[in-house]
Amino acid sequence: MLNQLNTTAPELRIAVAGATGRVGSHLINALASDPVEVISLTRQKAPKNISDRVSSVVVDFDKPSTLEMGLTGVDKLFISHGTSLQQVANEIALIEAAVKTGVRHIVKLSVMGPTTLANPFAWHAAIEAHLAQQPVASTVLRPTTFMDVLKRAGRHVAAGTWAGAAGKGRVNLIDSRDVADAARVALLEKVADNSQRAYHLTGPRNWTMHEVAEKLSDLLGRTVTYMDRSPEEQRAALLAEGLPSFVAELLVGLDQIFNHSVLTERTLTVEELTGSAPRELSDWLKENIEFFR
Ligand SMILES: NC(=O)c1ccc[n+]([C@@H]2O[C@H](COP(=O)([O-])OP(=O)(O)OC[C@H]3O[C@@H](n4cnc5c(N)ncnc54)[C@H](OP(=O)(O)O)[C@@H]3O)[C@@H](O)[C@H]2O)c1
Repeated sequence: MLNQLNTTAPELRIAVAGATGRVGSHLINALASDPVEVISLTRQKAPKNISDRVSSVVVDFDKPSTLEMGLTGVDKLFISHGTSLQQVANEIALIEAAVKTGVRHIVKLSVMGPTTLANPFAWHAAIEAHLAQQPVASTVLRPTTFMDVLKRAGRHVAAGTWAGAAGKGRVNLIDSRDVADAARVALLEKVADNSQRAYHLTGPRNWTMHEVAEKLSDLLGRTVTYMDRSPEEQRAALLAEGLPSFVAELLVGLDQIFNHSVLTERTLTVEELTGSAPRELSDWLKENIEFFR
């Protein structure tokens, strides 16, 4: 049962750290017709594609005073931090600034997955553990892997060189717009002081990478193949592409998680929060087919 939405309350002030990113940019659109004021906390001096109705505050994660300035007078904070070696330190700095300035509710984008040393799962576990100890209401959103990860395969599919270490493992992928829609509800719902909750967000069904290749073959009208590699071969291929080693490691780890069919749970949380079924991967592939031509 969902909590009541805050739609009749006086205008809420919601700060979004990551409004220029995948989930954050959808979230801002989703909040557009709500009676809220949205403030983007960004490292960018001139962020592109930010709606006129969102005010931007430039922050520097190494200068806590800039975070505190951006959070003054804010009721709710959404944290969606891009994957980086600074992620744990930066999110903890944001959480501390929010507690100091009296933010009442923090909604943190985390990740669904096992207890593991692999990143970004381990990073999110460390941030969640820190958040759990703070005197503030919190909601942790734990989505499965975003469909957007397939965009990385685009030029390889186009060149006929798509390969990876996911084997015949299954994974439930989620459309990042569903994550944003769920985040909107999590931000607008009324929560008791210091309450703590977690939502587990998934897409509608599981896929193997070979099934994704079949679907791409239908859409492109030619045969697309997913070629199997060992984790070692995949790591070497990613490093040869010029990816930083921590990114290569993270992607090989994700392939292992797919290979072992770890992320195959199907929850009803997206439809319960948003009132709509989660978006289908086949529709996402159709919408994004240009990436694969
Ligand atoms: N991708 C997946 O499959 C998946 C699945 C589940 C969970 N997640 C989690 O979702 C979160 C990312 O969401 P997203 O895809 O919306 O993120 P994103 O688009 O890659 O980045 C979000 C924002 O993070 C900000 N940022 C601040 N410091 C950064 C840094 N050092 N490096 C990169 N970005 C930085 C950037 O905003 P400014 O430039 O405006 O400061 C950026 O727009 C991560 O915590 C990730 O672990 C991802």
